[in-house]
Amino acid sequence: MSERLPILYNKKPCYDIVFTKTFDELISELQALGNLESRRVCIITDTKVDELYGNEVLRVLQGNCLKAVKYAFPNGEERKNLDTVKEIYTFLIQEGLDRKDLLLALGGGVVGDTTGYVAATYLRGIDFVQVPTTLLAQTDSSIGGKTGVDFDGYKNMVGAFKMPKLVYMNLSVLQTLDDRQFFSGFAEVMKHGLIRDALFYQWLIENMYEICDRELDVLQEMLIRSCTVKKLVVEKDPTEQGERALLNFGHTIGHAIEKYKNFQLCHGECIALGAVAAAYISWKREMLSMEEYYEIRDMYVPFNLPISIEDIDPKEILRLTKSDKKMESGQIKFVLLKKIGKAVLDKSVTDEEILDAIGEIHFSEEDAHA
Ligand code: GLY
Repeated sequence: MSERLPILYNKKPCYDIVFTKTFDELISELQALGNLESRRVCIITDTKVDELYGNEVLRVLQGNCLKAVKYAFPNGEERKNLDTVKEIYTFLIQEGLDRKDLLLALGGGVVGDTTGYVAATYLRGIDFVQVPTTLLAQTDSSIGGKTGVDFDGYKNMVGAFKMPKLVYMNLSVLQTLDDRQFFSGFAEVMKHGLIRDALFYQWLIENMYEICDRELDVLQEMLIRSCTVKKLVVEKDPTEQGERALLNFGHTIGHAIEKYKNFQLCHGECIALGAVAAAYISWKREMLSMEEYYEIRDMYVPFNLPISIEDIDPKEILRLTKSDKKMESGQIKFVLLKKIGKAVLDKSVTDEEILDAIGEIHFSEEDAHA
């Protein structure tokens, strides 16, 4: 059965997240947005998702709107850039899309963030809906209106806040997602439990095997609970003036590793490493117990997420943490865990603490021979 979670913006209903198991309800959801029969709809996707679901979604739209078209750009994180944005603008102009028409982002975080940025800027703003097809996009990037692209090696450097009109999740797509992508998304699910909902974190531990087996009903409950945390945070602080930064738990060191490794690792793999490092600092500051720290760390293992990494230069990782966007007046806004289920922002984390934490996740030659 489908479920729905409304998201408020400035305390007013803004859009719904629909959790369902097919694409069959997409048309009625789009019709509910109004005037579908007189709107052109452009699906924006990547070549990988296009092969799997592009034509299915196009068929669902055809005959129900003025015109349905599709644009697929090559798959890959390196395509999240202004060149792709330009290609999409050109396509939209060729197809004659105007301000009352609609974009539909069908894909993972790259597709959603890029399409959202196009929607924020094409003709000074056009409606868009998110149809996320990865766990990472379903649990995190499709919600909350952050859109944008990478620039010159910096992640999400150019962007805008633009709320979607709808987030439509067909959870059955998770069953065909490759293992690495599925597990990568789980790092953001874990993050939501750790920063805001201790009971959900406990539930994740208890349902670990069912989640790994991708039982649909369990995935649905997991996503509703995970998205509820994101909802609570983004509703309170939609444009990241304060509390929304808690969603960056694991991201300071995680983004630095991602950049150091030239984006060869999945985002969630880097976030798992960053989360272990942040939990380690929280333990060393006696905010978490040793048992809690090891429980958090070991929770990533059944999901094939790394808890240590080789071939890194800790000093270079430290340097990269300082070139991240999450700085304020030259200070890193680090996210620590005051306890499980409660994150706090801290600007007092020292270079020594960061290096110590990087040492904890750095698997070196000496460890191998110990
Ligand atoms: N993914 C972090 C945020 O939406 O703020």
